[in-house]
Amino acid sequence: MCNPSEERNIVLIGFMGAGKSTVGRELERLAGLQLVDLDTEIIRRQGRSIPEIFAREGEAAFRDYETEALCSLAGLQRAVVATGGGVIGRQENWEAMRRLGIVVYLQASWETLRERLADSQGRPLGDPAADVNQVKALWDRRRPLYAQADLTVETDFEDAAGVARRILRLLAVGGENC
Ligand code: S3P
Repeated sequence: MCNPSEERNIVLIGFMGAGKSTVGRELERLAGLQLVDLDTEIIRRQGRSIPEIFAREGEAAFRDYETEALCSLAGLQRAVVATGGGVIGRQENWEAMRRLGIVVYLQASWETLRERLADSQGRPLGDPAADVNQVKALWDRRRPLYAQADLTVETDFEDAAGVARRILRLLAVGGENC
């Protein structure tokens, strides 16, 4: 598939620990795309960390900030957007993501995610040490939503650079045929 225009950004979705930010950095490095990290954007706009937002205002407020931050990206060009794992929960977010570009799901097995999340910090909904069954149940509930992406890329067997190269090949971004 050929990237039809400069406006077609790459939007990465996937569960916490799927490697959205890491693969985003590789796409930035390999293809010269601008990396926009949605969580970082929320933190910048709100002037507070994500755990702070969850603790003080709750998840519903965080979701509103997430939608606002996503919508503020309209007009972005030649960028890769690394979203947060819960962005797939709202229909309006899907509409905003599809307007931005091609939505790519970074898929990983539960074993991989659990391992990657084991020593992660700063994720109010993704601390397996707190309650691993709850995190797994969230993953199970979200899987059908992630599957609505335009493109699904398996990430279990390759490092972030390999995954990024595969995405670029599949999209032929900047490729000779574009
Ligand atoms: C969340 C994922 C986080 C962050 C917030 C909520 C989620 O982003 O947006 O803690 O609901 O899955 P990462 O997927 O980058 O960890």
